[in-house]
Amino acid sequence: RILSQDELKKIAAYKAVEFVESGMVLGLGTGSTAKHAIDRIGELLRQGKLANIVGIPTSTQTHQQASSLGIPLSDLDAHPVLDLAIDGADEVDPDMNLVKGRGGSLLREKMIEGCCKKFVVIVDESKLVDYVGGSGLAMPVEIVPFCWRFTAQKLQTMFEDSGCVAKLRVSAEDGEAYVTDNGNFIIDLYFKKDIGDLKAAGDAMLRLAGVVEHGMFIDMATTLIVAGEMGVRMGMK
Ligand code: A5P
Repeated sequence: RILSQDELKKIAAYKAVEFVESGMVLGLGTGSTAKHAIDRIGELLRQGKLANIVGIPTSTQTHQQASSLGIPLSDLDAHPVLDLAIDGADEVDPDMNLVKGRGGSLLREKMIEGCCKKFVVIVDESKLVDYVGGSGLAMPVEIVPFCWRFTAQKLQTMFEDSGCVAKLRVSAEDGEAYVTDNGNFIIDLYFKKDIGDLKAAGDAMLRLAGVVEHGMFIDMATTLIVAGEMGVRMGMK
């Protein structure tokens, strides 16, 4: 039987939860893959197989899920160093650089996952790419709402050599601008060509006033778990 994408996500998520030990401070990711990991952590806590976990959620959505499962929660102010974070990704390149934020939580994810001793990324194999930004799917950038058209235009111009098209993300429910947990907007960048040096591209975006954070997670993942039809593979840095 061919496994569904969701089943593959669950396999990767359960494998990552094997790294969780009692007493850990854990970064809890956002999205359909991370959701499986959080469900599993809740289950192990209920069964008494894990104890004294503190979860740091990367979104209000994850906060809701984790608190409904009875996972004790806190924040970065109280726990500036985390033992482990588990999260999905939208794209993963061969150096374990990531694109994240199609679920809209990139800023909190980057703040929290940047403070972890170990950051385990869980994906099904459809997320693997040769270079990030090259899948034809969105590269999210969180921006302040003030004069968002100006910032979107600046971003598009910045990457015009890569055939960049910048689009405001709109909410599927009402067609209005999608608003992040931080009250910001998201511009999705679509590239026709490679954007070259990722660090340079990211730094250029951050120098633009109006940009809050971009969705490239460069050199942050320490462990990658990929679930595919041929089984589970793990990579480490
Ligand atoms: C949330 O903002 C994202 O960074 C997610 O981690 C990413 O979009 C992966 O989501 P799925 O696990 O739902 O594919």
